[in-house]
Amino acid sequence: MAVVVLSEDQRRKWDSSDDGLFYSQPRFVHHLDEAFRQRLTSLYRERIPDGAAVLDLMSSWVSHLPDDVRYGSVIGHGLNEQELQRNPRLDRYWVQNLNKDQLLPLDDASIDVSLIVAGWQYLQQPEAIAAELLRITRPGGQVLVSFSNRMFFTKAPQIWADGSDQDHLEYVASVLLAQGWCQPEVIAEQTRNAGIAGYFGGKGDPFFSVIAHKNRL
Ligand SMILES: C[S@@+](CC[C@H](N)C(=O)[O-])C[C@H]1O[C@@H](n2cnc3c(N)ncnc32)[C@H](O)[C@@H]1O
Repeated sequence: MAVVVLSEDQRRKWDSSDDGLFYSQPRFVHHLDEAFRQRLTSLYRERIPDGAAVLDLMSSWVSHLPDDVRYGSVIGHGLNEQELQRNPRLDRYWVQNLNKDQLLPLDDASIDVSLIVAGWQYLQQPEAIAAELLRITRPGGQVLVSFSNRMFFTKAPQIWADGSDQDHLEYVASVLLAQGWCQPEVIAEQTRNAGIAGYFGGKGDPFFSVIAHKNRL
């Protein structure tokens, strides 16, 4: 059983219709700008060891992993099969609405690193997901939850829709900590626009990541 962090009010969202409907049409777009994506890929290069078993939870047609690194396996999950099918990094994938069913179809201690990008903000039962991620992670493994300051507002639970960037960081860290992950590390950075505007001080999407490890036994 997961340790409860949110109240029922904090789980509510404006659009309570089935999330599967919202994601029924594939979106072959980037949800985050190039500056954010470059920072994310560099973080993955620094933090994910070669050969790791990687889970990209709440994925799409892109996983943001560096092209030249070979992982043991990359398993994807999402809500739109066409998007996942087109994702070149995935060895396999499955579709599951995590707001309906939080049990992940993966063995205990089978994953080294789990990733969530621009997805945590849509979770209505984040405690159960964080507990499941802990279960499937090998001792010493990690979870990286990354996001910026955008969202599909009507699909974000109140806890996220009402919060500041700092609130979001603290909220993700508190849920992970409550389920038994080690004290998370927080990264909060302003990026520089990846185009010509960057040379003149133009900003990109702000970059936030919460990283936590599972205790080594
Ligand atoms: C903004 S997209 C981000 C996709 C991808 N991680 C990326 O970086 O492009 C949000 C993703 O969250 C996932 N998602 C949203 N609501 C979900 C739900 N109820 N159950 C499972 N996944 C969900 C979907 O996979 C969706 O593509």
